[in-house]
Amino acid sequence: MSAGNALRLSSDAGLKELSELLRNCHYAHSVHYPALDVALLGREACRAFNATWDHLHTDAYLSAENGLRERRICKFQYRQQERQWTALQDCHFFQAETDNPLLGGVQRTYTRCEATFIDSPILQTLLAADLALLDMALGPRDWLVTCHQFRILCDQGNAGQATPEGRHRDGHDFVFQHLIQRQHVIGGESRIFDEEGGQVFSATLTDYLETVVLNDRILLHEVSPLQTSSINSDRGSRDMLIIDFDLADY
Ligand SMILES: [Fe+2]
Repeated sequence: MSAGNALRLSSDAGLKELSELLRNCHYAHSVHYPALDVALLGREACRAFNATWDHLHTDAYLSAENGLRERRICKFQYRQQERQWTALQDCHFFQAETDNPLLGGVQRTYTRCEATFIDSPILQTLLAADLALLDMALGPRDWLVTCHQFRILCDQGNAGQATPEGRHRDGHDFVFQHLIQRQHVIGGESRIFDEEGGQVFSATLTDYLETVVLNDRILLHEVSPLQTSSINSDRGSRDMLIIDFDLADY
């Protein structure tokens, strides 16, 4: 068996286990899936993909006291009958006030992700991996998918706020949280809660593409503040790719 096959089989076993966790516990966490699939694409593809986080735009909807956040978004639709992904031009984003007390109720428009990101084999692999997990957990469905590239910044005087709205839902069916990188930061613990307020999961994501997926209709989440960790660097950052999946009725 080649090394590639070993990775693939390991990844498939992980997929089944994660789908059962998602179905039974409504969340799952993995260091290896989908990171092992992406690793097969090589360092250069990852480097080009990660570099697109250097071209995000300041989130102008967020006031200064809520920290500095950069982002871009893009959307896709997926039709299971044709097994086809279609990139959409729409860059609007709306959350209900009940889900997001800070920015809910506002029709927001963000800059679309760069073509380098949208066309990346890394993104295609991540979308396919996330879809495969949902397919296994729910069966084949049609989806509207929104990708959010986020960079949260902090410095010596300002904490980074990955979730300035506090504990919340995003307002989607399923949410995948993929870590891209942390640089010169401490904190940023990811936490998941049930509706009664009990904490069901906490971890500080540290590995490339370490992933948390949760049923956003059932569970809530938050991320603790980030502080810069280095006395040699004034600025710290945490880059994330959040991928929302909403059931679509085409
Ligand atoms: Fe969120």
